[in-house]
Amino acid sequence: MTVVINIREGLDERKIRIAARFILEGKLVAFPTETVYGLGADALNEKAVKRIFKAKGRPADNPLIVHIADFKDLNKLAREIPEEAKLLAERFWPGPLTIVLPKKDEVPKVTTGGLDTVAVRMPSHPIALALIRASTPIAAPSANVSGRPSPTLAEHVIDDFYGKIECVIDGGETKIGVESTVIDLSDEKPTLLRPGGLPLEEIEMVIGEVEIHPAVRGKLVDVARSPGMKYKHYSPEAQIIVVEGPMERVREKIKELVKEYQGQGLRVGVMATEPYECDEFFHFGDTEEEFARNLFKALRELDKRGVDIIIAEGIEERGLGFAVMNRLRKAAGYRIVWA
Ligand code: TXA
Ligand code: MG
Repeated sequence: MTVVINIREGLDERKIRIAARFILEGKLVAFPTETVYGLGADALNEKAVKRIFKAKGRPADNPLIVHIADFKDLNKLAREIPEEAKLLAERFWPGPLTIVLPKKDEVPKVTTGGLDTVAVRMPSHPIALALIRASTPIAAPSANVSGRPSPTLAEHVIDDFYGKIECVIDGGETKIGVESTVIDLSDEKPTLLRPGGLPLEEIEMVIGEVEIHPAVRGKLVDVARSPGMKYKHYSPEAQIIVVEGPMERVREKIKELVKEYQGQGLRVGVMATEPYECDEFFHFGDTEEEFARNLFKALRELDKRGVDIIIAEGIEERGLGFAVMNRLRKAAGYRIVWA
């Protein structure tokens, strides 16, 4: 049975305690963070963490992020905390930044997908913070079945997990909409493993230049440092095509493609910044923040409306646009049309 706890308005400590008890009993609780919903379990309880992998259908070598609510919890999880980690944590926590560090023995290998490092993040959502404080550090991947778009609404979590997990906290729509930025500080050179809710530009203002792992750009090279990068991701049922290039040409290309696919008898969805004649349209947004907030919702929604193909307008890669385009290209399986 799945208990759905509604905390859309005002933090209710009594409700938080119910969810915290589930976590302490080794059960699974989905909860909102400022990025996307997470599927949480006690990070130090191997059995509980194993259930996360099972529920999601997630490969065992794809490590989880451990969520903390207090700076001193970082010392319990990480063996070494380099100066850059301290600077970034001080500046950006709580917030959409995950830092990978050498792990302590207390962190089970199940949690870290067999790696000697642990990914840690302090989320800023008041429900997430209260839940962790009332229980323990919580391991939580995004609360979607592996390969599906990440959840930005409790309804998305319920669609994927109703009856399969003990509890969902409904805290309304998540604010940022794309997952946290993941940076690896366990090695000599700071390396970006996943662009996300904290723009890379902001990180570089604090610690200087950051290397970008080639897999971020879709290159299938050595993925040992973040096994998550090698799996297919974020895909709805419909096939996605991303159209990139100068705006004018992109618009013409999208119109052309809609006609072409409709001509083949397909139902065509478009997500773009301006409306198109097509079977189902989703307004992507007008700012980087809106693109990020709408991305996963658009993919799930267009799927529900039963389109066969989704044509998505590419956006600029600066700021949050880097994370948005990273997710979109992956969701499309790198089917990109250059206009
Ligand atoms: O915003 C977020 O980060 C959300 C919310 C719930 O906090 N969580 C999330 O988790 O997106 P997940 O599991 O969907 O993505 C975690 C990413 C994966 O790409 C994984 O491979 C990487 O972080 N990761 C986790 N631990 C790692 C480690 N020790 N070394 C390298 N990469 C790691
Ligand atoms: Mg995920």
